[in-house]
Amino acid sequence: MAKLKSIYICQNCGANSVKWQGKCNSCGEWNSFIEEIVAAKKNPVKLPSLSSTTTESLANYESLELQRILLPDLEMNRIIGNGLVPGSLVLLGGEPGIGKSTLLLQLALKMTEKVVLYISGEESINQIKLRAQRIGLVNPNCHLLPETNWESISQVIDSISPKMIIIDSIQTLSSSMIESTAGSVPQIRECTALISDMAKKKNISAFLIGHITKDGYIAGPKILEHMVDTVLYFEGDRNYDYRILRTIKNRFGSVSDIGIYAMNERGLEAVLNPSEILLSQRDADLSGIAIAATLEGIRPMLIEIQALVTPSYYGTPQRTCTGFDNRRLSMLLAVLEKRCGLKMISQDVFLNIAGGIKVEDPSTDLAIFAALVSSFYDNAIINNSCFCGEIGLSGEIRPVRQLEKRISEAEKLGFERIFISSYNKNYQKLKGRIKIIAQQSVQQVLKSIFTKNE
Ligand code: TYD
Ligand code: MG
Repeated sequence: MAKLKSIYICQNCGANSVKWQGKCNSCGEWNSFIEEIVAAKKNPVKLPSLSSTTTESLANYESLELQRILLPDLEMNRIIGNGLVPGSLVLLGGEPGIGKSTLLLQLALKMTEKVVLYISGEESINQIKLRAQRIGLVNPNCHLLPETNWESISQVIDSISPKMIIIDSIQTLSSSMIESTAGSVPQIRECTALISDMAKKKNISAFLIGHITKDGYIAGPKILEHMVDTVLYFEGDRNYDYRILRTIKNRFGSVSDIGIYAMNERGLEAVLNPSEILLSQRDADLSGIAIAATLEGIRPMLIEIQALVTPSYYGTPQRTCTGFDNRRLSMLLAVLEKRCGLKMISQDVFLNIAGGIKVEDPSTDLAIFAALVSSFYDNAIINNSCFCGEIGLSGEIRPVRQLEKRISEAEKLGFERIFISSYNKNYQKLKGRIKIIAQQSVQQVLKSIFTKNE
């Protein structure tokens, strides 16, 4: 057996060192070095002979046609770039219990025309069968394998020749060629390299489930994300049913789209009309509620924003926010204070995005602003209004992209007026039933959200 030696590996970037270091010289991360035992290489690596290495001119790529595999899950099919590229590696990250295993098992069960191998290092066959029973699908072409050793898995792949494999999870996988334990940086790196090699050689697509750390990153070296073709994140609030599938990296498509699912008692179901679900009490005139016309990826969505502004009884006012960036909320409060003269410093502020979803679109600013103002004055915003606009530091309302899409979604849902930025180009040309209220600054918005005659 090869001689064992101990080295220190940065859990963030995978850099190694013979001594422990407080700060990684390579990525600058603190306290990220962990000791790993690895087998020392006995023989020096032989360089390949020059004759076996060839290059190819890029002149003849036109004849290549990418045959994508149509996935039975249409949301996922769309966001990975309209079909799965054979031989590609997809990494799916997400918090424990969010539904990663359910999403991929469901996908495997729906792929009835191709042989799929579901490899689980976390659950037994019976546990997976129970889950499949719950989902209520049967697929004789879906094979289960509870195994964690890559060499054994590789033999099974050779014998059943699947078109797609699912590995749940990459952190439980280990290769006998590496001495360190499963889940360690060298194991994760080596196993991903082995899977990638196999996938490219045999044209098998692989889905890898990856755990995430408490900071929200996929556990293991950052290079894991570089080694795969597509990185997806499955996110949502476990107390709610909605889940969002986001593309973080995609070598074969765009990263701007999202997929929305609802978790119910029979697994995950695609949500085709997110706006209708994310809006709740539209009939009641309640203060502190405003509707944002956002665009997540390429999909317009109308989302309800709820704010509560109450006098603070402590020295430091509380700012609690779910589904929105806390620092951005602080910025909006500072704009309210400075540009509109509202004394937010003595107020506790609570902000909530309906449905437990997380919004990233900066055009949500205006609706958040309106919800805050409405709660501050305890006065409801005129019924059937929605908002889209980014707020700048001087209180100006910035234009948003794809205004037409947002307006038509708002119209479809029966909204009567939409507040936008007057800096949006050509908005006058947009015709429709909805009344477009274009404004330049937050001061103007403040004056017009409570009265019908702007
Ligand atoms: P799971 O896929 O095990 O999450 P992960 O692999 O990301 O850790 O999902 C577990 C949760 O999903 C669990 O709390 C129960 C819920 N669930 C349903 O609500 N309905 C279902 O049909 C299934 C299979 C799971
Ligand atoms: Mg799981």
